[in-house]
Amino acid sequence: MAVNFTTPQKHGTLSPLAALFKFLAIFLGLVLLMFYISLQENAHFYQNSDLLANFTQRWSASIPIAKTPTNISHIVFGIAGSMNTWQQKTSYVKSWWRPNVTRGYLFLDREPTMDFLPWSSSYPPFRVNEDFTKLSSYKNIEWSDHVRIVRSVLEIFKEGDEDVRWYVMADDDTIVFVDNLVEVLAKYDHTKYMYIGASSECIISNFYFSFDMAFGGGGYALSYPLAAALIKIFDKCIQRYIHILYSDFMLYFCLSDLGVSLTQQKGFHQIDLVGDISGLLSAHPQVPLVSLHHLDTIDPIFPFKNRSESINHLMKASKADHSRLLQQTICYHRPSKWSFSVSWGYSVHIYENIFPRSYLRTPIETFRPWKDVSPPLYMFNTRPWPPKDPSCEAPHVFYFDSIEKKEGDQIVTTYVRAFPRDSASCSSSGSLSADPITKIQVFSSPATKRMEGVEIDCCSVLHEAGMDTTKVIYRKCMKDEIMS
Ligand SMILES: *[C@@H]1O[C@H](CO)[C@@H](O)[C@H](O)[C@H]1NC(C)=O
Ligand SMILES: *[C@@H]1O[C@H](CO)[C@@H](O)[C@H](O)[C@H]1NC(C)=O
Ligand SMILES: *[C@@H]1O[C@H](CO)[C@@H](O)[C@H](O)[C@H]1NC(C)=O
Ligand SMILES: *[C@@H]1O[C@H](CO)[C@@H](O)[C@H](O)[C@H]1NC(C)=O
Repeated sequence: MAVNFTTPQKHGTLSPLAALFKFLAIFLGLVLLMFYISLQENAHFYQNSDLLANFTQRWSASIPIAKTPTNISHIVFGIAGSMNTWQQKTSYVKSWWRPNVTRGYLFLDREPTMDFLPWSSSYPPFRVNEDFTKLSSYKNIEWSDHVRIVRSVLEIFKEGDEDVRWYVMADDDTIVFVDNLVEVLAKYDHTKYMYIGASSECIISNFYFSFDMAFGGGGYALSYPLAAALIKIFDKCIQRYIHILYSDFMLYFCLSDLGVSLTQQKGFHQIDLVGDISGLLSAHPQVPLVSLHHLDTIDPIFPFKNRSESINHLMKASKADHSRLLQQTICYHRPSKWSFSVSWGYSVHIYENIFPRSYLRTPIETFRPWKDVSPPLYMFNTRPWPPKDPSCEAPHVFYFDSIEKKEGDQIVTTYVRAFPRDSASCSSSGSLSADPITKIQVFSSPATKRMEGVEIDCCSVLHEAGMDTTKVIYRKCMKDEIMS
């Protein structure tokens, strides 16, 4: 008995011929099966390559990356307003709106009253928001004003403006620095889904809402393709978040559901602050100033000027050299042991001490958060105010007063002392008193197309003992000067 022939019982019952047929049948079956599988695979293969072809084609053939730089006419603004408060906001909007140059709309809750008609051509054209409460998709509306405002994104898109790259949404009390906005948006690819803006200054605001959302008062930009995708799902999405208070928060939820996250861009300012924000404006990060908000809830930003005068005053500097506005430049007068910090177009601070840049670039906490909470308060570090040692740590403060264009592109901005500094000289540093100085002239040339962090200016201080006017001359930094 050969062990090798202990064939299974079922085989044992077949005759040799039947076994051969069975073998052939199985073999044929396998061949057919493999043929079938290969067909299937080929079918899949063809389909996948089709998909892939379509995919790559769509990516490469999608709106070609802009060959032309983004300019002011590629932006359409949507400003959220309301008829009841429009009168108080007109001066803010007029400070930055350029009739027949900036494109966009003011969205109102109802038709303008007779006293605004005919509608002034120095305002953005108005649109009355749709009455969405009549739409069947809306139920259980608690905060109708927020829904009205957020639906402006949908309504502005439906206006069908041509050659739009960006929709920029802002409030009627947002001041926009249009040329800087253009410069900032030009860096981004408007053919992609882009959601650009900034958080609140206050930790508590971001905590209540989201650390990942753009605050609407500071304004935010949506690329055209993103707006187009958003409006397809918008009403459904708003209904999903109908209980959410605040339109910018609602929008953030809808954009998140689309898989889009915020691109944080410094320079948009929600200003969830109260009091004197000069400390912040005197140490702005090295990025273009894009917006300011809540001018009604803070002190006027210049002493002896009201709120609208203050903004128009800042705009004078902005018109002369928008890229340089609020850009901080630091230099020293070593013989007197003074540090100078210039926030171009806004303020000059003189310290009777030599402080490193790292210290001077930290804003002085002259302001408070909008809500009384316990620290930590802000998304950035601050220097406490008033300081422990006012003689050595409190600056002499000068505010922007006037601007003059000289031949050869030179710009002279003048800053004057608003108040005497109420403390003794800093004796420990052995510095001279800066009390006699009443006026500072800053000489610069336009810093157009100055990109983030690429170019840092240095300056020299020209001071003669006993003179009441000091000159600060902007110049290129010398090699290794910044580090020393
Ligand atoms: C590829 O695109 C064409 C036209 O856009 C379409 O007809 C076809 O069904 C697409 N193929 C696949 C596999 O998606
Ligand atoms: C903006 O750029 C477009 C080209 O993309 C050009 O046609 C238009 O004239 C430009 N507008 C301004 C105001 O420069
Ligand atoms: C804007 O253009 C319109 C029509 O061209 C003109 O009537 C109006 O006066 C212009 N407005 C301003 C403020 O220039
Ligand atoms: C601010 O000052 C300007 C110019 O003096 C004046 O026209 C305007 O009414 C003032 N605004 C307020 C709110 O007081």
